[in-house]
Amino acid sequence: MSEAGISEAGTSGARTVTSGASLLEFDQVISGYGEAVVLNRVSFTLREGHSLALLGRNGTGKTTLIDTIMGQTRHFSGTIRFEGRDMTALAPEDRAAAGIGWVPQERNIFRSLTVEENLTAVARGKGWDLPRIYAMFPRLQERKGNLGSQLSGGEQQMLAVARALMLNPKLLLLDEPLEGLAPIIVDELLAAIARLIREEGLTVILVEQKAKKILPVTDTAIILDRGAIVHQAASVDLLKDENALALHLGVAERPKAAKAAR
Ligand SMILES: Nc1ncnc2c1ncn2[C@@H]1O[C@H](COP(=O)(O)OP(=O)(O)OP(=O)(O)O)[C@@H](O)[C@H]1O
Ligand SMILES: [Mg+2]
Repeated sequence: MSEAGISEAGTSGARTVTSGASLLEFDQVISGYGEAVVLNRVSFTLREGHSLALLGRNGTGKTTLIDTIMGQTRHFSGTIRFEGRDMTALAPEDRAAAGIGWVPQERNIFRSLTVEENLTAVARGKGWDLPRIYAMFPRLQERKGNLGSQLSGGEQQMLAVARALMLNPKLLLLDEPLEGLAPIIVDELLAAIARLIREEGLTVILVEQKAKKILPVTDTAIILDRGAIVHQAASVDLLKDENALALHLGVAERPKAAKAAR
């Protein structure tokens, strides 16, 4: 149905998204780097089992928001809660240990280790294991003996996501995982992310500039501009809202010529 290959029939009964407790909560968060304020009073709640599209043009603060969740920015004020507990003062490694998985914008893999070594180096021994990872990413199984440096950009990105999964996160942060990848790999990776959301029920924040690519995969969406939330909606509604898309993201309406042709 969608470009990610999700069909409504394929999602039957697999989700329990309506009853999730609040997993991540931002309350009036102000953060930045050095003296510079980037995030400006950001508040939102993400429920367990839900997925959030984090959208915005270049330089609007998407990575800063992800980095703030991980504790990698300067905190000025506001509160961040994870599973109801205040984690505003927690160190980055303690946030990771609490169950936040992070795939940074610049892919984070060991280039001199094989695919399989990359995965087993971070294995925690429960939850995600190699068979489950390879079922999710068959391409990684085919390449399991290859070095990280021998992989294509798309394969490296799959490996980066797989490594984060091996740590069994409760919340997975994906910062522009589709950026710079060939279209065929974009669809393959997006389909895997969709399965993580729909079938595994993983709570995910997915950063992307191309809204129409990811909105069919996520539940809700936030658009940032100059470090502030300028629009918040159900993904299904934003997908149809050409005005909001054009206003905040500059997404032009698609020409309908092909459909009209007979
Ligand atoms: N380490 C840093 N020190 C100072 N300012 C920074 C730093 N990183 C980012 N910024 C500034 O913060 C603002 C938001 O940047 P950020 O990287 O969060 O945007 P983004 O939405 O992720 O953009 P992109 O789509 O290009 O990845 C920008 O004005 C940027 O210049
Ligand atoms: Mg960014």
